[in-house]
Amino acid sequence: MNQHLQNIFNVIQQDESITAEQKNAIIKSLKDADKELEITAFKLDRTEKVKKTTAILLEETIDELEQKRKAIEETNAALQKLLDDLHATQAQLIQSEKMASLGELTAGIAHEIQNPLNFVNNFSDVSTELVDEMNEEIDKGNLEDAKQIAQDLKQNLEKINHHGKRAGDIVKGMLQHSRSSSGVKEPTDINALADEYLRLAYHGLRAKDKSFNATMKTDFDESIGIINVIPQDMGRVILNLITNAFYAASLPPPAGGFKDPDYVHSPTVWVTTKKEGNTVLISVRDNGPGISQKILDKIFQPFFTTKPTGQGTGLGLSLSYDIVKAHGGELKVVTKEGEGTEFIVLI
Ligand SMILES: Nc1ncnc2c1ncn2[C@@H]1O[C@H](COP(=O)(O)OP(=O)(O)O)[C@@H](O)[C@H]1O
Ligand SMILES: [Mg+2]
Repeated sequence: MNQHLQNIFNVIQQDESITAEQKNAIIKSLKDADKELEITAFKLDRTEKVKKTTAILLEETIDELEQKRKAIEETNAALQKLLDDLHATQAQLIQSEKMASLGELTAGIAHEIQNPLNFVNNFSDVSTELVDEMNEEIDKGNLEDAKQIAQDLKQNLEKINHHGKRAGDIVKGMLQHSRSSSGVKEPTDINALADEYLRLAYHGLRAKDKSFNATMKTDFDESIGIINVIPQDMGRVILNLITNAFYAASLPPPAGGFKDPDYVHSPTVWVTTKKEGNTVLISVRDNGPGISQKILDKIFQPFFTTKPTGQGTGLGLSLSYDIVKAHGGELKVVTKEGEGTEFIVLI
């Protein structure tokens, strides 16, 4: 029994002024109180234990949370790295698209340079013979004839010079294409730019695939004159559109064939320029299979391509769109399945 209750118990036991009946009642109360005290002490002890357990559990939970926070932090860092890698890969892809288009051009460029070189070689051969003839005439004393030959020689040298410059211009154009864009608008002959890229793309494709054949048709509006554009960038847009057009024109007809059963398909690409008020239109049209409504709203998305792996990067139209936008212009598409597609640059 609790010591204090025991003391009271002892006092009561010895007190003779209290009747036995009263004593019994008091002692019963004392024993009840003692029991209650014991129960309370037990409960207190249990509460104490629960408190300790809770504290331990709480500590564990805090530890767990801390670990989770660290894991999230690590995941975030990994995600950031992935994102950085993705950006780097995108930049590389854009560069490789540029290099791929340069690759397509190389054969065309070689072909274009071959023409002026042939002129230079032929004219210099002829000129060597003319010098021999001139010497003969001088020996014979025919100074009038010798002078006439000298006149022809001068004309030949001018032609050699002209074609040499032409080859130089082609090389310059090629270097400009491979170099990163100057980002500066320059007075540019857009007709000459379109014509140049059309021929380079055509000869490039022919060199790659001997069976490739297509008709090119041009209609340039001479009233356009010189306009201010970033020539490398605009050249890339035109090249992208023309390469796409040649590719599409050479494709087989869509399921169901071309509308007219008597129609014989002959791949054709039209490049047209036109001045309308303050706007210049550059149109690249083909008589390929057209673009189905299902994918029409996807073609300008980066990496969207329907070409077999290794043949398309899906970047041509997206880059072209950005370039035209940066010029404050618009890039539109008009297409009809089974008839063809027209891309129009408005600047
Ligand atoms: N002239 C066209 N005719 C039909 N489809 C075209 C034409 N031009 C582009 N497309 C479609 O748009 C897609 C995206 O073109 P682009 O961005 O140049 O990438 P890529 O040429 O590498 O596929 C092409 O894969 C093709 O499905
Ligand atoms: Mg393309």
